[in-house]
Amino acid sequence: MCGIIGCVSEKDCYGALYDGLKRLEYRGYDSAGIAVLDRELRIFKKKGGVSNLSAFYARGGTGIGHTRWATHGAPSDANAHPHRAGKIALVHNGIVENFAALRAELEGEGERFFSDTDSEIIAKLVSRAYRGDLLAAVQSALLRVEGSYAVAVIAEDRPGELVAAKRKSPLVAGKGSAGLFVCSDIPALAGTAEYIAQAEDGELIRIADGEIEFFDGALHPVPKTFFRPQEELRALSVAGGGYFMRAEIAEIPRALRDTLAALREKDFAPCARALRAAQRVFAVACGTAYHSALVFADIVEKEAGIPVLCHTAGEFRYRAPVLGTGDVLVAVSQSGETADTLEAARLARARGAYVIAVTNIGCSSLASLADFLLVMRAGAEIAVAATKSYNCQLLCLYYLAGQMLFFKEERLPSWWGSLERLPAAAEASFGCFAEVDRLADRLHGARAMYYLGRGLDLCTAREGALKVKEIARVFAEGYAAGELKHGSLALIEDHFPVVCISTGASLAKKSENALAEVKSRGGYCALFSQYPQVLQESCADAKCLLPALPEPLMPAVAVIPLQYFAYKMCLERGFDPDKPRNLAKSVTVE
Ligand code: F6R
Repeated sequence: MCGIIGCVSEKDCYGALYDGLKRLEYRGYDSAGIAVLDRELRIFKKKGGVSNLSAFYARGGTGIGHTRWATHGAPSDANAHPHRAGKIALVHNGIVENFAALRAELEGEGERFFSDTDSEIIAKLVSRAYRGDLLAAVQSALLRVEGSYAVAVIAEDRPGELVAAKRKSPLVAGKGSAGLFVCSDIPALAGTAEYIAQAEDGELIRIADGEIEFFDGALHPVPKTFFRPQEELRALSVAGGGYFMRAEIAEIPRALRDTLAALREKDFAPCARALRAAQRVFAVACGTAYHSALVFADIVEKEAGIPVLCHTAGEFRYRAPVLGTGDVLVAVSQSGETADTLEAARLARARGAYVIAVTNIGCSSLASLADFLLVMRAGAEIAVAATKSYNCQLLCLYYLAGQMLFFKEERLPSWWGSLERLPAAAEASFGCFAEVDRLADRLHGARAMYYLGRGLDLCTAREGALKVKEIARVFAEGYAAGELKHGSLALIEDHFPVVCISTGASLAKKSENALAEVKSRGGYCALFSQYPQVLQESCADAKCLLPALPEPLMPAVAVIPLQYFAYKMCLERGFDPDKPRNLAKSVTVE
């Protein structure tokens, strides 16, 4: 969701804030703004991307910046942050849930609002509480706020000072040669800050007199340890005109190799007891991460005979799950900051369950609340659509599934040794791209598509469909091939595109039957399989040979041409693959 940054420096900070916002832009790109304080407070804000702010500049070493993903109020100059009230300027990521009541109360007392945002209310509350002590004003204002926030606040008469606070939205502080910072996330500070410390819920941060201090909600100092951010979280750079999504797909083999190396070093013994004793296993995640959780559930059930209940995190937390001591919950999240996944993990902890987190960010909120942590080494993922993190999540989950089997039956799955071949197979899958280029060329005018699969291929089908919806804006549904004739076949007409993934030998014939049903109704079929014979015998119009691996590992490879297909469809349709409409990378609100 929105990205916030704040800086106190001995030099002018506009450039550092601008660069920071550029790195935060994957959190939202509806509008952006910067406030800097020299002798006076100057605010520049604009609807649209961060680059709109390159037309401005102001001197001053104290400042805050924001890149927005709209919740309350449409994207507009007025709704862009920072918001000003009296001497105060404020940026906010989160949602003020008692927004309507607070706004009515403040309007009743004569306050005028200049935006439709919930965030301006916090600026007003801070301004009304401000008597020269910024920390105390922010603390008392936030006592009135229900909901989630990470805020950064400066006051016109306090150059060199910045106060930030957090509840349920991520916030970190960092020290670097360019100054002292607060920021929404670590990847945006990696490369700028040499040392980083994270704020916990309810904490406040004050930067003043060249120091960063943390306080609890009662303003008692909280000691913090600063650490070096993971070097690999430094964002890739893409050459002019290139896209992060393309670079991130190209990086999949490297990401898998690094993740594999980290997993080999990982000691699973600490979770052995919990896994051995598990009464029930749950897997929760959102979006793409949910699809990797589906693969995990399927594999654990097949290999270890342990049923895994897999849910999207947002549903899980509201369905009164039967969950308690002796249960294991596996939470999967690239960012480690997805609000629903975090809440599901918190719920599991509160009920006494053992929480295993799989994340790309070793110091994320999810990581800090887990009993056992698996950190993938995907590196910073900047494009909003998840690609390399999905492959790495799958690898971590394969490893975990293998360990579960080992702890239960003292044996490893038959495919265990083939995990080593995953990076090379991922690389080999790039060989499909020429065929996929032709497919995108042919299908880019499509208005809707089906992705079919059975068993594990259904997870891949769902992920392929999500990608093409997300970035190419083509309606797509990932569907069980056998279900087609139970209703959805009614939509098939001439040229209707159907992509089928068929990597399971035992179900290949069944998937082919579904394709034949589509074909005989005029549909256009594309088939992906690692079996030359399956391709040869198929009626599909386009055929693509995937690299071969044991079937349980195929989801981590079969998805790659589909990621690339979505990317190509997106380009053909004239959209920006890195910044899909209406979306943001880190979904820190419910
Ligand atoms: C889709 C996508 C999203 C995320 C989802 C969860 O391409 O990126 O569906 O997978 O928002 O995000 P994380 O993994 O950060 O919890």
